[in-house]
Amino acid sequence: METIADIEQLRQLIQGWHRAGERIGFVPTMGNLHEGHLALVKEAKKRGDRCVVSIFVNPMQFSAGEDYDSYPRTLEQDQAILEGAGVDLLFAPSAAAVYPAGNGVQTRVEVPGISDILCGASRKGHFIGVATIVCKLFNYVQPDLAVFGEKDFQQLMVIRRMVTDLAMPIEIVGLKTVREADGLAKSSRNGYLSTDGRDKAPKLYETLKLTAKAIAEGDRDFSRLEANGLEILQTAGFRPDYFTIRRADDLALPSQQDRDLVILAAAYMGTTRLIDNLNAA
Ligand code: PAF
Repeated sequence: METIADIEQLRQLIQGWHRAGERIGFVPTMGNLHEGHLALVKEAKKRGDRCVVSIFVNPMQFSAGEDYDSYPRTLEQDQAILEGAGVDLLFAPSAAAVYPAGNGVQTRVEVPGISDILCGASRKGHFIGVATIVCKLFNYVQPDLAVFGEKDFQQLMVIRRMVTDLAMPIEIVGLKTVREADGLAKSSRNGYLSTDGRDKAPKLYETLKLTAKAIAEGDRDFSRLEANGLEILQTAGFRPDYFTIRRADDLALPSQQDRDLVILAAAYMGTTRLIDNLNAA
């Protein structure tokens, strides 16, 4: 596996693959890879002839005071993992190459309506940063398909909308969340948890499951179910940001008739912000 930081060099290699008629699968990441990322790689390999992974901790999607500086950067370990997974190419550009004039003056991609709610409400500008970097990465890598995890449900929706609205000829594949044995969604941020926090963290998924079960059994009192969820999380030692039941296709508040639902949650355990979601009907 080759690691490339240079954008021109990347373009040349990719052009050669396209000329040879090869289908390129792409997995954008911020590194510190875990089994969740490996599932995305496996899917990209299954669907394409070539598999490209990017590692770039994107400053534009972090707000002031968030974990940009402390975000785990484990390039050598990640390279070994990707090599073992049979990835063809790792693209790992520098922030200076991606944002030569700084990300403050970068043209922005904004997906309206779904970018400033839920995680976008507490992390101002986060989804503009995500959409902008994913758009740039798509332009560098020119993939035929790209694979993202459903753990970041809102992010996946933002990316799908961007690709549709900007007519990008890229197939977006969403993949089921990979979990630890106790249900906690795999995330690079799990490494921040204290031993005690790690013990308590699976309660997030348990609360989602409990709520999905109640909905499946016919409980349509969404406000009460949300209030219950928040209370369970608080009692379990979380500081919840939101626990909400939405329509799965547009994240709008559901009516009593809506059946395709998603329960989304974000909550702090100590200083670690965890997110998770579960479909319900
Ligand atoms: O999900 C992530 O790791 C990031 O938000 C992404 C999609 C790689 C963009 O920086």
